Formats: sequence, structure tokens, C-alpha cells
Amino acid sequence: MNKILVTGSLGQIGSELATALCKRYGANNVIMSDIREKRREDETAECKCVVLDVTNAKQIARIVHEEKITVIYHLAALLSATAENNPQLAWDININGLYNILEVARESNCAVFTPSSIGAFGLSTPHDNTPQDTIQRPNTMYGVTKVAGELLCDYYHKRFNVDTRGLRYPGIISYKTLPGGGTTDYAVEIYYEAIKQKKYTCFLKAGTYLDMMYMPDAINAAIDLMEADPAKLVHRNAFNVSALSFDPEEIAASIRKHIPEFFMDYNVDPIRQGIADSWPNFMDDSAAREEWGWKPEYNLDRVTEEMLKHLKEKLL
Ligand code: SER
Repeated sequence: MNKILVTGSLGQIGSELATALCKRYGANNVIMSDIREKRREDETAECKCVVLDVTNAKQIARIVHEEKITVIYHLAALLSATAENNPQLAWDININGLYNILEVARESNCAVFTPSSIGAFGLSTPHDNTPQDTIQRPNTMYGVTKVAGELLCDYYHKRFNVDTRGLRYPGIISYKTLPGGGTTDYAVEIYYEAIKQKKYTCFLKAGTYLDMMYMPDAINAAIDLMEADPAKLVHRNAFNVSALSFDPEEIAASIRKHIPEFFMDYNVDPIRQGIADSWPNFMDDSAAREEWGWKPEYNLDRVTEEMLKHLKEKLL
């Protein structure tokens, strides 16, 4: 039986991934870790949770050895907008953190899952039906760390035979834990504000199309990829995975099917708009579908229905 370490496990994806991994493999076989201490009120899995700073290589090695870890889901990272505010810290966490994880994985023979992102693309990338293998010249520190991370993971696979696998995640929509400073965060905030105020001021322009995905699809994608037959994987780091593509007007229209008086206006943030404009409108994820059977389940209206239902329970 594998013993799994999740880094960044109090974050938006990590918190729900840890819960799903506990359900699938048993809480005794999962260790959550985060730079923050878990608080009693955190809605997370009932497995062991340790404090771990991924920029501290010795700390990672100690936990991996003590706990006899065989698989690492490495989610600790800064998101795009936060990274643009502090590029030096983003490099340190996103690159040095990943390097530390890969080195421990090499020494201890662990498999590693690393999320890449739509942020690994840039202005010169084809924006529609963005191919799996294409131009990647991002102009954000987040994107630079994601491209470098993809290359580093592929390098560790080829050079040291570390079982590295990754996904280019789009914006992830969920109701349990908030995202931490991404460009796609509007697609989460809008549901909170629809419930709380029945209005939302959007920081991206109408007509800004981006790939998005509902959390259960994102979790299944990570687990399915890590369980996939390695013989079938032509690619590794990282697979395009797409589920939804919409602009602010379309998500607002989906919300109005449940809250007809919902009102949206715009106050565009030039930094996040610039980032969004450099990212794909929608990716071609046929490599993921062919190589390990990727198939998302949620469309926009189903996401809206679930988000509004769960947030009503949480907020009202
Ligand atoms: N959700 C991420 C961000 O906006 C995209 O990878 O930064």
C-alpha cells in the first residue's frame, strides 16, 4: 500500500484532495502537510497533519523518511496574482520547493504529482484549442515557474526515472476552501457574492474566456493520472485538462437561472486582465483523454446548481 504525502494541503485543492485520498486509500496512509498549522475549524480530512515548509529540504526529507512516504502530491505553490505581487517569493516556493521535493523523491524513490496550469502558456500560444505541445512563453512569474516546473519534472523522469506526472489545471471552482490569489478566482467569488449580496463586481472584462473546472473533476483527474498505466503515458508533465470554458457574462447568466435579480458590473483590474489575456480561451485535452481516459463530468449549469446549494448552506 502506498503512503501519501500532500503538500499545501490546507489550500483550495489540497484540502479536498487530502479528503479524497483518505477515502480512497485510508486515513492511515495519508499525511497532510502545510506551512500553516491546521486549525480545529478547518474542514479537512481526519488524517495526520504536519507543518512543512517546502523550501526546507531537510524538513521534507525527515517527514518522507519517518513516514515511509511513497507518493507525493506536491500542491504547495503561490497562484498567479499573488506571485506577480511577490515574484521572488514565488520563485522560491514554486521552484525551490519543487526542486526539494524532486530531490527527496529521487533519493527515496517516491512518485510525484505536480500541478501545472493554464498559466504555463503565454501571449504567443494559440489561444483556441491550445495544443498539448505548443509554444510556451508566459510573461508572468507564475507562468515562468510552471513551465520550468514542467521541464524539471520531465527531466527527473528521464534522467533519474522518478515517476513524475502533472496536469495543466484551469481555474478551479469550489465551495470548501477559497483559492489563494489567482486570476481565475472571480469564478469562485461570483457565487459567494451572488448568495450574500445578489451582485458582483467582476475584475475581468466581459468576453474574457478561460478554462475552468469544478473541484470533483480536478480531484478525479489527479488521482486517475497517478493511477494510470505508465506504459500508456506518452506525455507526463503536464497534461492539458479542460472541462468548461466561459466568460463572466456566461457564468452570470447561469447564476440568473436561479437568482434572476443577480446583478453584475465591472471594475477591471489591469494586472489580472493582462494575465488572463495571455492565457488560453480553451485547451485541447485530447492527449489526456487518449493516454489515461480523462473525462470531466460537470458542465457550467451543474456547477452553478451545486455551488449555490452548498454556499447557501455554508453562508446563510
Ligand atoms: N487558478 C490559477 C490562477 O489563476 C490558474 O492556474 O492563478
